Amino acid sequence: MNSFSAGDSVRIGIVGLGRLGRRHADNLATRISGASLVAACSPVADELRSARDALGVERLYDSYAALLADPQVDAVFLVTPTSLHPAQIIDALRAGKHVFCEKPLSLDLDACATVIEEARRHPQLKTLIGFVRRFDASYRDAFDKVRSGRIGRPFMVRSQTCDKNDPDGFFVRFAPTSGGIFLDCSVHDIDLARWLLGNPKPHRVFATGTIALHPGLAESQDVDNGVAVCEFEGGKLAVFYASRTMAHGHDTTTEVIGTSGALHIGRNPRANRVEIADAHGMSNECTLTFYERFADAFVSEAQAFVDAVRGDEALPLSLHDALEATRIGIAMRESLISGQPVMFDA
Ligand code: NAI
Repeated sequence: MNSFSAGDSVRIGIVGLGRLGRRHADNLATRISGASLVAACSPVADELRSARDALGVERLYDSYAALLADPQVDAVFLVTPTSLHPAQIIDALRAGKHVFCEKPLSLDLDACATVIEEARRHPQLKTLIGFVRRFDASYRDAFDKVRSGRIGRPFMVRSQTCDKNDPDGFFVRFAPTSGGIFLDCSVHDIDLARWLLGNPKPHRVFATGTIALHPGLAESQDVDNGVAVCEFEGGKLAVFYASRTMAHGHDTTTEVIGTSGALHIGRNPRANRVEIADAHGMSNECTLTFYERFADAFVSEAQAFVDAVRGDEALPLSLHDALEATRIGIAMRESLISGQPVMFDA
């Protein structure tokens, strides 16, 4: 049972106000009904100041433990480095807070299992891992069409997450802690493939990749372009591509192929509906980053979390789904490094 009655707002503390955290904070403060952003936590004083000045957040903490001790906070939004996620989720649950945490749940399988165990001890608390694409209107429509049998029996997903090249190589500095291109980027596509194919068990993966533009990645045994194939039970297949080096923009696209049709989501990563006709032909501008592509989905995701906390509704994705995405991502990374296929236990 939840303790919220009609009219109560979920009082949220945001933890991490970096590249993505400040966007979540803005959404929570201005776009989500039934929620108030009451607190913020970051070790960076400037980030806390800007939460106070731009969003009117008054309860500011440079220590996560102090935020968790605040009885005025019902739920935390963890938008912190991935290595911190498992311990921060566990501490929040033990402090009686509902938890939204950015993807991936963890880079370590045992840590995923420990979080699941802890969550089982607190069935009254909601925990959601931010696989944002499940909340995108086009992906939801595709999922509903697959479910209704529109393409027959779905047996294959081809899905890519491709970022525009950043010549400064931000992600090269981030690579030692991100888990590599598959756990950082393809983890979204893995989650989509499982969702769209009906959660089949993985059987075997093979991954490879190349460094096209950023030699600094070699130190972390990472690549800037990676490809992987995952075989699932029942003859289902997924093919993944992830890139950090696109020239044109952020290009996330997914195809679901069935026995009597196929669906393509986001084939043209267009920034809007304007088409330009000029001496070069017909063209359109592209989304530059993941955020422009999924801005509305981030709002829907936060709203779904808040609605679940207030209404005691089930969330559309479980911690087990997040563990499975990590499991397959780890296997892809192992395969990339070893050059060998990786089998999953039966
Ligand atoms: P970032 O490095 O820009 O921000 C991290 C934030 O955490 C900073 O504000 C930092 O001060 C804060 N922080 C660090 N240690 C902390 C601690 N002990 N307690 C509280 N705050 C702490 O990272 P970014 O890019 O915002 O990523 C954060 C998370 O979001 C990652 O897990 C990443 O995988 C995920 N992410 C998800 C995306 C999606 O599409 N859903 C896209 C981008 C990132």
